[in-house]
Amino acid sequence: MRRILSMLLILLCLPGFSLGETLICDASSPVHEMSDTLYGLFFEDINHAADGGLYAEMLQNRSFENEDITNPSLYQHLNGWHFNILAGGEGKVTLKTEEPLHENNPHYVRVQVAKAGYAFQNLGYGGSAFRGGICIEKGESYDVSLWLRGAAEDGYVEAALTTKAGEPLSSPVRFNVTDRWEQHTGVLTSLAAAEDACLTFTVSSAVTVDVDMASLMPRNRVGAAWPGGGLRRDLVEALKDLHPRFLRFPGGCVVEGSWVWDNLYRWKDTVGPVEQRKENWDTWGYMQSYGIGFYEYFCLCEELGALPLPVVGGGLLCQAREPYENPMNDEELAAWTQDILDLLEFALGGQDTAWGALRGEMGHPAPFDLRYLAIGNENWADIYFTRYEKISAAVKAAYPDVTCIVACGPVADGSLFNASRARILRSFPDDITDEHYYMESGWFLRNTHRYDYYPRRTKIFLGEYAAHEPAAGGRRPNNLYSALCEAAYLTGIERNSDVVVMCCYAPLLARLGMEQWTPDLIWFNGNQVVRTPNYYIQQMFSSTLGDQIIQSEMTDEKGAAVKEAAAGLYHVASKTEDGRVYVKLVNVSGQEKKINVQVQGTDRVKGIMTLLTGEKQAVNTVSQESVSPAQKQVAFPDGWAEITLPGYSAAVIALQ
Ligand code: AHR
Repeated sequence: MRRILSMLLILLCLPGFSLGETLICDASSPVHEMSDTLYGLFFEDINHAADGGLYAEMLQNRSFENEDITNPSLYQHLNGWHFNILAGGEGKVTLKTEEPLHENNPHYVRVQVAKAGYAFQNLGYGGSAFRGGICIEKGESYDVSLWLRGAAEDGYVEAALTTKAGEPLSSPVRFNVTDRWEQHTGVLTSLAAAEDACLTFTVSSAVTVDVDMASLMPRNRVGAAWPGGGLRRDLVEALKDLHPRFLRFPGGCVVEGSWVWDNLYRWKDTVGPVEQRKENWDTWGYMQSYGIGFYEYFCLCEELGALPLPVVGGGLLCQAREPYENPMNDEELAAWTQDILDLLEFALGGQDTAWGALRGEMGHPAPFDLRYLAIGNENWADIYFTRYEKISAAVKAAYPDVTCIVACGPVADGSLFNASRARILRSFPDDITDEHYYMESGWFLRNTHRYDYYPRRTKIFLGEYAAHEPAAGGRRPNNLYSALCEAAYLTGIERNSDVVVMCCYAPLLARLGMEQWTPDLIWFNGNQVVRTPNYYIQQMFSSTLGDQIIQSEMTDEKGAAVKEAAAGLYHVASKTEDGRVYVKLVNVSGQEKKINVQVQGTDRVKGIMTLLTGEKQAVNTVSQESVSPAQKQVAFPDGWAEITLPGYSAAVIALQ
């Protein structure tokens, strides 16, 4: 007792020391290795994440393929286009399919001009599905292209950036029409900034021209040399700043197809020359151009320094849309399995293999660094596991170094989850289990110890998660509180990063006004990017990934272990091989907390603290960033520092 009292006296004499919670971290006591793939991203074309988003293409329905396969109608093929927009122009437009530029791209329009000056335009992506509006910057250059075929070689088509009324926003470029399908390219430089520009084509004289596959992309983009044409730079930067270790792609529900097999995501439709890719109706209700196909995906992984983690269908349609899951029979499954093996050959095969050679032709003769393959999305029950078993056996036999990932349903608990988990433990103990759950924010606080009880040899991929706040105006907000609940949960994930080897928030991207799902990590419009509080939590945690978890314990002023949920305080500590120490603290209570932090077992006494705080309900918008991380120096003289955590805050201290 006397010893405790005298220690307390010594502590009270230390500069800045006060009674309150004490967190003692010991860098000389490692607990376990951390997964070096812990934090990654999940990219799915939902909310126009790809088309109208990351994909640099600024035109919508550029190839007249737009068609809702669940409700086909001719009208949709002309969505996003306006014809005969100038007074005085005379002519007619017809949707055609005879002798298209490629069988995978069957629709085009025939424009029969009766009087010179006939003009038509693509409206791009606007704030709502087909309102249109292309964002352009003054003085920026844009690559424009168009496929044309004419009845005679005596006409030309001019392309220019204009207003909706046809007033010029750039000088035009001229494309001479020939009598066979040909791609014409040019560069447009904008004379003014605009948020509702159009790409307008004007036909020179009374000729007939067939038109397909128009394109407009900013010259300043990432991956301009990739066959798909490249990606929006500001969004790529936002992804890079998250330091992702892996990139899951292309879904999500997008992988599975809904209702009909035509809707299944088939990777072969997404590679090769972009005008030969076979577009598909997205599970989320719009056409996928596949301008970001599997080749561009693998290139993006390299660009981000992330490992690829492709997902392929598990041999049945979406089970959430049951009873339409329509499982493949043996013959269909064998063909599907071959498709999957072909994908692996596309990524890993030599130049002497058919699919490896296609990768080389597309610009990447060296193999991609593919180590994981997820088979199925949110599947469960025998109908899935029997098919998973067959597909994964074939993959393991052909590619023993590729680790298979097995789906464990779409929920966090309950009988469906328990049965799936038991089945996986029994039948696929060496594979990684893919768990998905979207829960209300409080659930994440109550479940930070979920993985403490998992057998240590189990390997978990938390492939989709997000804290859901009550919806307002039809949207669940990305507010600070939801982000802090996720941060609290991540302390539990890090503490269990021997079991949880990967995790990623979902969904990643959403175009404002065109979303199908909320919340989302990053919001954007035509020229702005909104990093949400949830984004900043991901960034703070993933940019400070340790190599080992170290011992840490928080006690109250009486020396009793702090109960996380009761105190609203969560923590975890780790260190890197080169001796950096990371202490992560989350305060989900509204009260300021002063924590006496001691870091033992290191001689590092200076660090940087990154703090995220604000109003509980604060959100970031295009006009205001209310919540963003701030950094300050912190000193640990004698290994101690008093850290003030404002109410509703998360802090990462990096002792460098
Ligand atoms: O992330 C949005 C959707 O949620 C995914 O497509 C699906 O896997 C899940 O149900």
